[in-house]
Amino acid sequence: MSEKLLIHQSGPFQGTVTVNGAKNAALPLMAACLLTDEPSILDNIPRVTDVLTMVEILRRLGAAVTFEGHRLTVTPAGFTGTVAPYDLVSRMRASICVLGPLLARHGKAHVSMPGGCVIGPRPIDLHLKGLAALGATFSIEHGYVVGTADRLRGGRLLLSGAFGSSVLATANVMMAATLAEGTTLIEHAACEPEVIDLAHALVAMGARIEGQGGPVIRIDGVERLHGARHRIIADRIEAGTLMLATAIAGGEVTLEGAQPEHLGAVLDKLAEASVSVEKLNGMLRVKREGPLRGVEVTTLPFPGFPTDLQAPMMALMTIAQGVSVLTEQVYPERFMHISELNRMGASITREGSSAVVKGVARLSGAPVAASDLRASAALILAGLAAENQTELAGVEHLERGYQNLEQQLGRVGAKIRRLSEAEQYK
Ligand code: EPU
Repeated sequence: MSEKLLIHQSGPFQGTVTVNGAKNAALPLMAACLLTDEPSILDNIPRVTDVLTMVEILRRLGAAVTFEGHRLTVTPAGFTGTVAPYDLVSRMRASICVLGPLLARHGKAHVSMPGGCVIGPRPIDLHLKGLAALGATFSIEHGYVVGTADRLRGGRLLLSGAFGSSVLATANVMMAATLAEGTTLIEHAACEPEVIDLAHALVAMGARIEGQGGPVIRIDGVERLHGARHRIIADRIEAGTLMLATAIAGGEVTLEGAQPEHLGAVLDKLAEASVSVEKLNGMLRVKREGPLRGVEVTTLPFPGFPTDLQAPMMALMTIAQGVSVLTEQVYPERFMHISELNRMGASITREGSSAVVKGVARLSGAPVAASDLRASAALILAGLAAENQTELAGVEHLERGYQNLEQQLGRVGAKIRRLSEAEQYK
């Protein structure tokens, strides 16, 4: 048994919250620190369990890592390992982003195959295709991807799959290409802000990269990279979650540190749903203007509406007037939260890769279980609007990617209490 959260109907919210650094920027950046022998310092790293898993992977590969406050220092002088083992990769699929650095530095990689996961099958074919274009060869042995390469050579490659571009495949190939001989052109590259942040950090380490943020990234390989210091971007998904929570609970909340240029599609849909977001130097003021209205949302790669806010957006739709439609174009199976939201009185039906949500007048608190990180946030948000008490199990999913979400929400008026294991036995 693990800890639970008890959520009570809350709102209207009032106050200020600071957005943490982005988990999905932190993870590939930590792997990037392996591309040099010299120490690198990353600031604004969130204290979430996925980051701790990546710390463990870097240490198993021989790097020394310290993590104090939000500063992470990676010293890869002892980085001689080539194996990312099953026990760690099975905990976190993003472990795959050590593949590129391993091939670039050691010409050898032994990385456990990440299996399917609760949000869908999530293959790694684009990672392998991209690295193969730089000269790596792969085989699958005993559940591991075994990669080998002499010095990688730049190449021209297309990284688009059935569901569009791939964030971590772009990151993997970009990292490997920094040390390859010659020029690499990644076409149909992911345009996510996390890819841009990685490119900025790599450039600070001495890499030559152009075009990040657009669909074609050019990397001119260099002999070696050096250590650097980099502050990672704010977490746009956490910012979006806090905005959606405010929309659901009502009131007015100021977000410090959120980067509106990363949130265009979200702000657009919030406006349609009757939520105003005002930009004031370095801050965003979020305010619900009257009853929520139903909206149609389709998740897409950046700059489209992010799949990682699909579940929290669905929580809003459950109590918005009229019918909303949510279409998932990135992970068509990412709908495990529908049945839990329906247990709270929502009216959601799934039709293929879409969910049709009929707004209801009220939700009612219930015991619910989180299936994954973003589903856990969605259930907390629904709990803020539900009568009586919602009891959320599976809090470990939340902790993979949100640093103290319940405390952040508590600061602006949410009534959420953590129930320890000992209290549950009473
Ligand atoms: N895909 C392939 N082949 C591949 C790789 C991906 O077909 O080799 C497909 C995926 O199955 C999916 C689509 O391409 O349908 C996009 O997946 P992508 O590779 O972009 O996902 P990712 O890089 O593995 C990152 C985030 C996810 C986020 C996605 C999409 C990190 C650590 N993870 O994953 O974050 O949902 O991009 O934006 O950056 C989360 O934080 O909750 C989370 C799941």
